[in-house]
Amino acid sequence: MLFKTRLKSIGVVAAIAATLLSSGVSADSGDKILESSCVECHDLKGAGPENLTELWALKGPNLSYAGNKYKQAWLEQWLAAPTRIRPTGMFYGNHIKPGTDEDVIKQESLVKHMALSASDAKVVAAALMHRKAKSELITPGAYKPGTISLRMGELVFDKFRGCLGCHQIEPGYGGASGPEVYTLGNRLQEDYIISFIQDPQAWSPLTFMPNRPLKDKDLQKLVHYFRALAKEKF
Ligand code: HEC
Ligand code: HEC
Repeated sequence: MLFKTRLKSIGVVAAIAATLLSSGVSADSGDKILESSCVECHDLKGAGPENLTELWALKGPNLSYAGNKYKQAWLEQWLAAPTRIRPTGMFYGNHIKPGTDEDVIKQESLVKHMALSASDAKVVAAALMHRKAKSELITPGAYKPGTISLRMGELVFDKFRGCLGCHQIEPGYGGASGPEVYTLGNRLQEDYIISFIQDPQAWSPLTFMPNRPLKDKDLQKLVHYFRALAKEKF
């Protein structure tokens, strides 16, 4: 009994020490936080998987080109209050099991993303904006702002190009193996979206998102659609 109480009080001391340590972290620069808390799951240097074993072992999306990909305001918000973007987490194959009709997501195997304090989220988002691997794949101004109705946009996304098989256009509607697209407009830079759809493998080697030759006209329509979707309330 005495032994158990002793253990408990050691636990309390450890918890206090951990709190002190983590409150010390807020003063650190965003890069320090990235190196200490994020490298375990995220590639920050840009190599990318070289074979299927490495692809399968990925524990989080590549952040080495975060500055070419995300909108800073979204990063800041999401890091403080993360939500699931990929219904099947990472790596996809580790979180599904065969069902009778279609694959079933193993919800119990999905982990909740760590959340940062608002001040840490701010410095980390700023540090991520400096990670700019693969800039040569971006054409600044590739996206020309315009509009499309949600109905027309959905036609392009689904009927013509089969994108709905892997991506959800609203919670629970669409495939589960790719990231949700109904938040894309807030999340990703428009020129990145154009570049990524044109050549997914250039950004994410071995990704199973198909490389389809799309006309610039259709690429523009897709981005108009993502921007319109992101304004919807689900
Ligand atoms: C235990 C592994 C793990 C750790 C540690 C981790 N992440 Fe993640 N991260 C993930 C996974 C898995 C996802 C995909 C989540 C999803 O889509 O639902 C993700 C997603 C993200 C995203 C959204 C990117 C996208 O396109 O989906 C950002 C930004 C991010 N992490 C930043 C960070 C930062 C910054 C840290 C350190 C403070 C960190 N992560 C620590 C596993 C991790
Ligand atoms: C076979 C499944 C599949 C199909 C079909 C597919 N995608 Fe994807 N898509 C993915 C996966 C998986 C990713 C994540 C790639 C990565 O991060 O490595 C992705 C990522 C994306 C991204 C980047 C999103 C992000 O958060 O990083 C966009 C934009 C996108 N897809 C658009 C499309 C469009 C448009 C189509 C139709 C022309 C399409 N996808 C068809 C599987 C698919």
